[in-house]
Amino acid sequence: MNERALPNVLQGTKNAVFTSQKEWEQERESLLSLLSREEYGFLPPDPQRLSFRLLEKQEDYCASKAVFEKWEATVGMGEKEFSFPFFAVVPTGVKKPMAFLHINFRNNVPDFYMPTEEIVDGGFAVFSFGYEDVTKDNGDFSDGLAALFPRASGEKDLPGKISLWAWAAMRVMDHIVSREDIDTKNVAVIGHSRLGKTALWAGANDPRFAFVISNDSGCSGAAVTRGKQGEKIRDITTVFPFWFCDNYRKYQDREEELPFDQHFLLALIAPRKLYVCSAKEDLWADPASELLSCREASIVYELYGLKGLICPEEAPIADAVFPEGTIGYHIRKGTHYLSRYDWQRFMEFLRKHRN
Ligand code: GCU
Repeated sequence: MNERALPNVLQGTKNAVFTSQKEWEQERESLLSLLSREEYGFLPPDPQRLSFRLLEKQEDYCASKAVFEKWEATVGMGEKEFSFPFFAVVPTGVKKPMAFLHINFRNNVPDFYMPTEEIVDGGFAVFSFGYEDVTKDNGDFSDGLAALFPRASGEKDLPGKISLWAWAAMRVMDHIVSREDIDTKNVAVIGHSRLGKTALWAGANDPRFAFVISNDSGCSGAAVTRGKQGEKIRDITTVFPFWFCDNYRKYQDREEELPFDQHFLLALIAPRKLYVCSAKEDLWADPASELLSCREASIVYELYGLKGLICPEEAPIADAVFPEGTIGYHIRKGTHYLSRYDWQRFMEFLRKHRN
């Protein structure tokens, strides 16, 4: 099973292997700190001030099947303030719908990665924001939200951009949990690719997300790193060093020295629901390594008496769907993309596993 010499998540940062839920929960914080320190950088503290303002409301959205809202979140730290927009589409015909919080590439509603009408027809609300409205996808840490958190040079565990986008998702969640029209016990944070990595990291840090969905997140997302095909730590930290903290770079070509692997990230979501989607031809992300990660994280779900991934097939064929376990998985045919087909599978998983 463990041909790739993956570290045992049940060993955590200790030498002993945990056998109970209690031991795992005692260790969980140390593991979260480990990933913060070595990979993504520590999330900033909660904001000192936080407010939400409704900017726009459209009652007849999608032939009156939904209400569209545009909001502005304002966060304050010391003297500084920052605002970013986010959006809500809430179906009118459903009482307390479950909801997605989609960390999106763009701030379009709808968007080709976010088929709002189908989501509403499925009975779900969808909240979203465009990630670059929070802080740009580059190495400029004076831009947007990043400017709120001064950075001492030489610190190697400062938040990378993934941590900042995840932090912003948690602020939108602050808004969602304040709403009486949403089933706040059933909110799924979701993202694709770099934003799939972000959704997983937000889900690991914030237990209010009952569901966490990663679409084609690959390297430094759902896929285990040891023995991975396609993108490696050297590639990702050369092209996108600013997504991570500086410590992560020391593992270039030294994957085997990482004191964890990406299945630890998935395990931090236990016992909540997790869904991972791969695309058959997305070899840069590496579907086999994403699936393996789900299998390896499952042992933590078992400590809770839950089944993690239920997937009897070693290498599932394209369009195979495995929604039964607390970790759901499907592999779509085709290339790197977030499709309507994927959204339909996510909606089925939420309906099946609603809290
Ligand atoms: C690049 C990057 C991936 C990332 C992807 C994306 O391909 O190497 O790690 O997931 O961009 O976000 O689209």
